[in-house]
Amino acid sequence: MYKPNDFYARKAKQENFAARSVYKLEAIDQKFKLLKSGQELLDLGCSPGSWSQYASQKIGSKGKIMGIDLTEMKIALPNAIFIQGDILTGSVSKWLLEAGFQTQLDGVISDMAPNTTGVKITDQSRSLALCEMAFSVATQHLRKGGYFICKIFDGPDVQQFREGIRPYFGKLSLLKPESTRKESKEFFIIGIDFQGIEGSKGLTG
Ligand SMILES: C[S@@+](CC[C@H](N)C(=O)[O-])C[C@H]1O[C@@H](n2cnc3c(N)ncnc32)[C@H](O)[C@@H]1O
Repeated sequence: MYKPNDFYARKAKQENFAARSVYKLEAIDQKFKLLKSGQELLDLGCSPGSWSQYASQKIGSKGKIMGIDLTEMKIALPNAIFIQGDILTGSVSKWLLEAGFQTQLDGVISDMAPNTTGVKITDQSRSLALCEMAFSVATQHLRKGGYFICKIFDGPDVQQFREGIRPYFGKLSLLKPESTRKESKEFFIIGIDFQGIEGSKGLTG
């Protein structure tokens, strides 16, 4: 059952984060130690902004975040630029270029989720489409050695997606953070040490 005022929602409010989702990114980062000072990141599905808030603190004043979401962002951060746009139809390359970002980023993080319909198969396939687009963006904009974090709703084609992207990373892990609601079918795919498009060929043989 959805509990808007659960432990993590209250904690997020007390700690001035825009959403309880922050504790999912925090758990991933505590385990894999990915976010570091000076990094340039892309935060896909950034609204209302808790991941960007967390990342902003970790990368500091020398780092930069571009956040993209369908929804307008209501917060401002000193080292972040927010774009209101659709990842499925917009041009991330153009947005990055126009905002003066490097084309090779340290991390692409995606907490994107479709508006759920309640029809399991529809929600799963929309989540998968967002993950495929997030991965496509990552292949274009991650530097070698960079990382990819992506939320996905578990479903029939998820294993195929996961195994399809595995060769592009030195290490691929899955995590369901403790703050994820028990009834939720979402989990996170974490790709570390991006090998580049051509690098993946060597791994798959
Ligand atoms: C769970 S929320 C993200 C929460 C955010 N990480 C935070 O910490 O505040 C999922 C977001 O994905 C966004 N989203 C869904 N489809 C999208 C698309 N095609 N392009 C951009 N954003 C999208 C939604 O608008 C929604 O704000």
